Amino acid sequence: MIVLLIITLLLLGFVVAGFMGAPWVPARKNDVELMLDDVKLKKNELFVELGCGDGRLISAAVKRGARAIGYEINPLLWLIAVLRNWRQFPMAKIKLGNFWAKDVSNADVVMAFLMPKFMKKLELKTNAEMKTGARLVSYIFKLPSKKQFKQGAHWTIYKF
Ligand SMILES: C[S@@+](CC[C@H](N)C(=O)[O-])C[C@H]1O[C@@H](n2cnc3c(N)ncnc32)[C@H](O)[C@@H]1O
Repeated sequence: MIVLLIITLLLLGFVVAGFMGAPWVPARKNDVELMLDDVKLKKNELFVELGCGDGRLISAAVKRGARAIGYEINPLLWLIAVLRNWRQFPMAKIKLGNFWAKDVSNADVVMAFLMPKFMKKLELKTNAEMKTGARLVSYIFKLPSKKQFKQGAHWTIYKF
């Protein structure tokens, strides 16, 4: 009974995420390094991922010498991301929670892969919070109004 309850709660995490930003669909493996190259993530910069999934981008960002924070609402994915990145702590921090409630004003680079219906909300949040010179990488989908800085293969980069 308890096992069933735990499994239900974990599965619920996948459903809830779909209503809060996007269900889990990971960025393509081949795109991870290309995206970080394209956004020119530098050593010691702060990389913040809104919905870090299994933590693959956090891991790649830290390997480049950046500091990284990933927010994840799905407890199972959060755990996978923690296990993948625990050796990199405190350079890599994986936090369980809703990224809409987190401030990104310290970030040098923000990465998000959200559903189209959340792009306006992402635009409002990043416009309100991101500092001058910071970059946003939006995987697959574009912000509705903000002028892009650069177009990548499967992502768009915005500069603030
Ligand atoms: C499309 S997946 C992208 C995962 C990862 N960024 C990648 O590119 O591989 C979106 C992720 O965001 C998480 N997510 C959705 N809404 C969220 C929210 N409001 N707060 C935190 N995480 C959220 C989902 O659980 C999922 O792991």
